[in-house]
Amino acid sequence: MPVIVKVLGFSLALTFGFTLVANLLPQVEGEAPVEITLEPGTFTEESFVALGEELFKGKGTCTLCHNNMGRAPDIPVMNMVETAKKRLADSRRYQGEAKDAESYLRESMLQPSLYVVKGYGKKGTNDTQSPMPNVNKAPIQLSEIEIDAVIAYMQAKGGNPVTVALPTAKAAPPLPKAQTAQAAAPAIAQNAEAAMTQFGCAACHSILESESSIGPDLRTVGKRLSAKEIRQSIIEPNAVIAEGYSPMMPGDFAEKMRVKELEMIVQFLAEQK
Ligand code: HEC
Ligand code: HEC
Repeated sequence: MPVIVKVLGFSLALTFGFTLVANLLPQVEGEAPVEITLEPGTFTEESFVALGEELFKGKGTCTLCHNNMGRAPDIPVMNMVETAKKRLADSRRYQGEAKDAESYLRESMLQPSLYVVKGYGKKGTNDTQSPMPNVNKAPIQLSEIEIDAVIAYMQAKGGNPVTVALPTAKAAPPLPKAQTAQAAAPAIAQNAEAAMTQFGCAACHSILESESSIGPDLRTVGKRLSAKEIRQSIIEPNAVIAEGYSPMMPGDFAEKMRVKELEMIVQFLAEQK
């Protein structure tokens, strides 16, 4: 059976006996949505790595922190298999149970505090606690297969062999046709909550059901800031830096959001009092 890989943009639908739909922050990358459709059992190493890369940049929100701005290790340019070996050999810092690079990378995503890279710990914890969210929990919520795909990407991009097992058709229960057909690119966010989920705000801020202390708590932001100031904080985050925080909020939301999405978020946050 042929592998159909349609690269249409940035939302990714896998028809894989079941359907995995990842809404991959289309605007965050400023590209049209990608749709990759794979028939059952037709994952190749290449397509699995490609899925991992899309997840890394999109739904996983990894590149919000893992980039060249110094807020987290610059994974896109690091050899993550070599890095994992060094971490495992660093017995003074390493608290986990991983035995090889694959298990170190999985552990880093599921229990980030088991090894905290020097200088990147949560403020005031002397590098004992990681600020990184557990990626299988809200708001990121990657599935096991998605986590494997991200590991495959992190292994492959440094030229290292991919050791994660490719998912088989057997792992996936069949899915009714109707659901398969629904997998499409995400439209403009319908409300502020959806827009904030799409842009990964909760990776760094406490808002809605999520907690994160990398940026200020937004559950009461309407008390501190006017709608105008909130709008400026989003489109020009470095114009005013909230006291006690480092300037690490991404500066390109303005290019990626649609005006309506920005205004829904501003209005919603202004009402959080
Ligand atoms: C909110 C910011 C943030 C997000 C989002 C985030 N990380 Fe991290 N991550 C960090 C920080 C900070 C560290 C360094 C501290 C530590 O070791 O946990 C880190 C560490 C890591 C490490 C260990 C790196 C090393 O040098 O040993 C891996 C692997 C990793 N992250 C993968 C990911 C992946 C994959 C994603 C997306 C699914 C992700 N991270 C999302 C902040 C983040
Ligand atoms: C990678 C982490 C990160 C992400 C993602 C992020 N922010 Fe921030 N944000 C911060 C940090 C750190 C600050 C404080 C420093 C500053 O003012 O730039 C901040 C500041 C703010 C402020 C000002 C708060 C105050 O009390 O002064 C607002 C409002 C805000 N962010 C909204 C958002 C919204 C809305 C999103 C999603 C569209 C978002 N942020 C995504 C890290 C982030």
